[in-house]
Amino acid sequence: MSAPAPQPNLKQQLRAMAQGSQSLAVAYIGVVNALFSALYRLERADAAALAAAAGMDAAYVRRWCDAAYAFGYLEAEGEVFRLSETGAAMRPDAPDTLMPMAVQTVLNAHVAERAAGLMRSGARPGEQVLAERETVLPWFGPMLEANFAALFERTICPGVPIFREVDARGGLVVDLGCGNGWYLRALARRCGAVHGLGLDGFGENIAQANRLAAAEGFGDRLRFAHGDAHDFALDAPADVIAMNRALHHVWEAGGATFIRRLRAALRPGGAAVIWEPAWPADRAALRAPGRRGLAFQNLSEHVQGNHLLAADEIAAAFAAEGMAPEVFRFVDGQEAIIVARRPA
Ligand SMILES: C[S@@+](CC[C@H](N)C(=O)[O-])C[C@H]1O[C@@H](n2cnc3c(N)ncnc32)[C@H](O)[C@@H]1O
Repeated sequence: MSAPAPQPNLKQQLRAMAQGSQSLAVAYIGVVNALFSALYRLERADAAALAAAAGMDAAYVRRWCDAAYAFGYLEAEGEVFRLSETGAAMRPDAPDTLMPMAVQTVLNAHVAERAAGLMRSGARPGEQVLAERETVLPWFGPMLEANFAALFERTICPGVPIFREVDARGGLVVDLGCGNGWYLRALARRCGAVHGLGLDGFGENIAQANRLAAAEGFGDRLRFAHGDAHDFALDAPADVIAMNRALHHVWEAGGATFIRRLRAALRPGGAAVIWEPAWPADRAALRAPGRRGLAFQNLSEHVQGNHLLAADEIAAAFAAEGMAPEVFRFVDGQEAIIVARRPA
């Protein structure tokens, strides 16, 4: 694919892009401080009343209200504000919430700044980069849940036969690198007999996962615990070991060794179910609007000590360990599910 033709109005275009990122930065401040949610409950409020309802500083909230008004998240009558349609859609609990775009924008800015500073030395600080911004870490799980839970529940779970099979057995599904546990909660909603164990390296994720599972009434079927995917031990062999956007986090330490560990933790006939964003074979595919984010993500993964994987590379690694892989592709091939069975 050739480079885009130069535009005569390039500066205006880039200014509009810069405003887009400012707009989402303003939204981020409102999301993480529950300002959208507080104003939704109040319906109308001046900055001081909004600050009091959200437990925030009145002077900061006054400045935020002006900015949120400028970017169209708030409407104003004199000093009284109410949410616009876009502002209401930024609430994390709004249907099909816009919140992930705001969180992703600020996370991207953080990782870009880290990559810029690390490029000379080549240092790769690892996963901890995500925990360096205290307001971002708690939003990582909700962002991924808002991005992917509906796709899993509506399309992937019904479209990949292993889930019906594990439900029929009343089997154990282990989610390695489970984040806030949304995947096991979504699975539990669809598959009434499945039991789940989620393991993750971040304590913040485990606390959220246990809290959310209990709130949905899954406390007896789902358990979440702190654990390292490189060194996990199960009380009983698993029917399924799922990894969602997590295999690439452990791959650089040795993919084949890791797959042997997965195989050993499965019962005979059990399966690893790997969900990864599919890194394309052809660089030109990254120019497509739906894949540009993947190219940025891979830069961000590099800072964390990871890189994104091609679905065929994952499948070949399972095949090499004698686990027959099957590849399912979703969302125009951007999302890949690899199901690899331990022979019965
Ligand atoms: C991109 S997130 C995906 C989270 C979740 N699976 C989801 O789909 O929302 C990757 C997750 O893997 C976890 N992780 C990375 N390396 C890990 C390790 N060695 N042991 C346990 N968890 C790990 C991170 O803490 C993070 O929650």
